[in-house]
Amino acid sequence: MAYSKHILITGGAGFIGSHVVRHFVQKYPEYLIVNLDKLTYAGNLENLKDIESAPNYVFIKGDIVDREMLQQLFARYGFDGVIHLAAESHVDRSILNPLAFIETNIIGTVNLLDAARHSWGDHTAGKLFYHVSTDEVYGSLGETGLFTEETPYDPRSPYSASKASSDHMVRAWHHTYGLPIIISNCSNNYGPYQFPEKLIPLVIHNIKHHKPLPIYGDGQYTRDWLWVKDHAAAIDLIFHEGRNGETYNIGGNNEWKNIDLVEKLCDIMDELLGRAQGSSRQLITFVKDRPGHDRRYAIDASKIKRELGWQPTVSAEEGLRLTAQWYLDNEEWLAHVTSGAYQQYYEKQYRERVQSQ
Ligand code: NAD
Ligand code: DAU
Repeated sequence: MAYSKHILITGGAGFIGSHVVRHFVQKYPEYLIVNLDKLTYAGNLENLKDIESAPNYVFIKGDIVDREMLQQLFARYGFDGVIHLAAESHVDRSILNPLAFIETNIIGTVNLLDAARHSWGDHTAGKLFYHVSTDEVYGSLGETGLFTEETPYDPRSPYSASKASSDHMVRAWHHTYGLPIIISNCSNNYGPYQFPEKLIPLVIHNIKHHKPLPIYGDGQYTRDWLWVKDHAAAIDLIFHEGRNGETYNIGGNNEWKNIDLVEKLCDIMDELLGRAQGSSRQLITFVKDRPGHDRRYAIDASKIKRELGWQPTVSAEEGLRLTAQWYLDNEEWLAHVTSGAYQQYYEKQYRERVQSQ
């Protein structure tokens, strides 16, 4: 079949990437979707089981640090668009092992930019390199204020510094080589298929197994949470209707202090598990803080709302319930991703935090 577009999605076996791949494969049967993923600890093909045999879907296992492989892939598929999500994404891991973040997030992004540039040359009409980034590049907010697209960059962890670097590289390839690009910077996502190293799935998993719920520092740190499928819908809109060279902030207008969010999850889980209300809250344990912990993130998403008509559709109450229920219904998925290497990471990360409290 002749497809109207060939689209490369990187990191499509991860949390957000799998939602984006599913969204595009199902909504656009006229597009060929090629998912390139290294399948690190965070990449899991089980996330895509329901669409793996769709005729317009191809999976390729590969590392974006491998320049030659990328050039061959572009030559083979003649991509019209790239949606780049592949990254090392966990702040705590970036503190333990920054180099992996430099390699994938910076070098890998530059390799992809170069592969697109060489493949497209001067024929850039209808082409787009779309880079998916994070609100963490803007640094940390005080009690008030919101990140806008004009907020100066101030990354403070190895993860956010590597993502900020990659954003700068993408803009440099636009200004210097004329590559058509768009960047979006999104707040914290939650929902099905998130690896249980991140706060919400970790807490759900631990409540279920009567394990301590580790709260870093005083628990007053604030994040702006967005239902992952609302992010996938925003990526679709931006990919099709965003303006070349622009940046769009995406956020849920849904701020929670960590302790309040964890208490809310405790109450939802008590209800779903038929436990006495208040019992899971007793598992809350304050532990040593994350070094360099950003105090507050909050997004001003008025540009994407105004220009592209995007809105978040799922409320916190609904999204947290759906998420908790999904993890309860998908024990096998959780068992697979929490075996082996993840267990070792978990023991190391939290043994040290509790001992030095
Ligand atoms: P994730 O860690 O769940 O998934 C990352 C995926 O990238 C995995 O499938 C992994 O195998 C793949 N990958 C890693 N290194 C690779 C490499 N060298 N080559 C090819 N594939 C590689 O991450 P996520 O939470 O889904 O985040 C996806 C993107 O969205 C990232 O760029 C992240 O910075 C950004 N983002 C995430 C959030 C969030 O809340 N999770 C918010 C805003 C932006
Ligand atoms: O803001 C967008 C970013 O959100 C993304 O770019 C990152 O890829 C994603 O991991 C996420 O980063 P955070 O550091 O905000 O997410 P995390 O789930 O790791 O932590 C959320 C908050 O909860 C943060 O303030 C740290 C705190 N926390 C986290 C864990 C894992 C705890 O208190 N205890 C924990 O055990």
